Amino acid sequence: MRGHFHTDENGDFKVKNIVPVPYAIPTNGPTGEFLEYMDHHPMRPAHLHIMFEAEGHDTLITQVFFGGDEWLKTDVAEGFRNELITRLEDKGDHKEASLNFMMRPLQE
Ligand SMILES: [Fe+2]
Repeated sequence: MRGHFHTDENGDFKVKNIVPVPYAIPTNGPTGEFLEYMDHHPMRPAHLHIMFEAEGHDTLITQVFFGGDEWLKTDVAEGFRNELITRLEDKGDHKEASLNFMMRPLQE
């Protein structure tokens, strides 16, 4: 799923989404041979890809991960960072999570 979202005047935004699940990267071809050589599993923890764009700022491309995922520490893509973790709070008929992002102003 993909979308294009706009923040409010405070820089806040909300997205409704299906909770992602962990997945395995393809294990055929050179990637599979490399994983076998490294004796590494092919799993990525559940995550969302996000790209932020704002006038006067560097574009920020990042991912969001969810606390408690068993694959966080051994992410085959090594994309996991502690500051990119959020927690899903159970709200009965849905779950909610939040995370703060900071964009770097363009250097002149
Ligand atoms: Fe991904």
